Amino acid sequence: MRVAEAFRAAFGADPRTVWRAPGRVNLIGEHTDYNDGFVLPFAVPWGVSAAVTPRADQTIRLLSLQSSGGPVELPAREEATGWARYAVGVLAMLGDRVAGADIAIDGDVPQGAGLSSSAALEVAVASALNDVHGLGLTPMEIALLSQRAENDFVGMPCGIMDQAASALCQEGHALFLDCRSLGSRNIPLDLAAEGLSILIIDTQVHHEHAGGEYAKRRAECESAARKLGVPSLRDVTDLAAALDRLQGAERKRVMHVVTENHRVEALIGLLRAGKVTEIGALLNASHLSLRDQYEVSSPELDVAVEAAFRGGARGARMTGGGFGGSAIALVPDARLDDVRASVTAAYAERGFQAPRFLSATAAKGAHRLA
Ligand code: GLA
Repeated sequence: MRVAEAFRAAFGADPRTVWRAPGRVNLIGEHTDYNDGFVLPFAVPWGVSAAVTPRADQTIRLLSLQSSGGPVELPAREEATGWARYAVGVLAMLGDRVAGADIAIDGDVPQGAGLSSSAALEVAVASALNDVHGLGLTPMEIALLSQRAENDFVGMPCGIMDQAASALCQEGHALFLDCRSLGSRNIPLDLAAEGLSILIIDTQVHHEHAGGEYAKRRAECESAARKLGVPSLRDVTDLAAALDRLQGAERKRVMHVVTENHRVEALIGLLRAGKVTEIGALLNASHLSLRDQYEVSSPELDVAVEAAFRGGARGARMTGGGFGGSAIALVPDARLDDVRASVTAAYAERGFQAPRFLSATAAKGAHRLA
């Protein structure tokens, strides 16, 4: 295993444990997690492997196979910068339950595609530390710890979806997660049996303002919930009455969040009824709502979604936080070439950088490699 070999070469001994955690795509339920709502992500085949040995002192030595140069040595947690913050943040959240550690990281999540490589890194490191220190954390506790590392150490106010997907997903299944109760169920996702695939269209564009806009959307939702007198937008039961009491951006955000929660439930109903092909319409509706009401799409995402649909997809939508990253399209296998050609042509016509296509199968969540 490459990460274990790199660990041995850098630190002179075998790692005590190696864990792998995947990235994710979200089938539906976007910008609902921090509104106590529903999400339906699945793990992708790409992820991060973390080889870890605890240390007796407070020093952290970190090596990434994706960064040039040798290991970074940090005498204290506060000194972490760049990608190291995601790993060190996990150590920081574990407080004095752990001391320092030697850590080697190897990742193959396509960078900038919005497939949650940072959550994969956090969950891989958290799972490995949980294992070597015998902390007895459940997968959900690992997800929550990882989310706190990202919220409080890295400073990105993300919800729980990405870390939960990375920690809890099962192969061949999507994860239906209630982000309030944190109850979850693995929903079988057998697309191949229906001759369907999920095609990931990576726009390869990531807009700089994404982080700031994310925090702004979150604040708008919280403000709208306060005005409506509910703990969170999850609790809006009468959408029409709620919309009457709001204006401008907040009105639009509420429209998206409430209808998106309904779409998650509707999509699960279709999956249960074996009507996989019909989920396409819900994907399209989700995209339009994210574009027009939540205003987190981008020209590249919109063109990808429209061109995929024109090329024969049953439905398509942006996935993840938005402002770049990836779209997903539900495509009959016989139309995959047509869809790729349609999106490629539409991008060329607009003068966009060529997109990258990836095929997503539902992979398994965090697991021990060695
Ligand atoms: C990002 C965040 C998630 C979630 C999505 C939008 O991926 O990390 O918590 O809010 O955006 O659904």
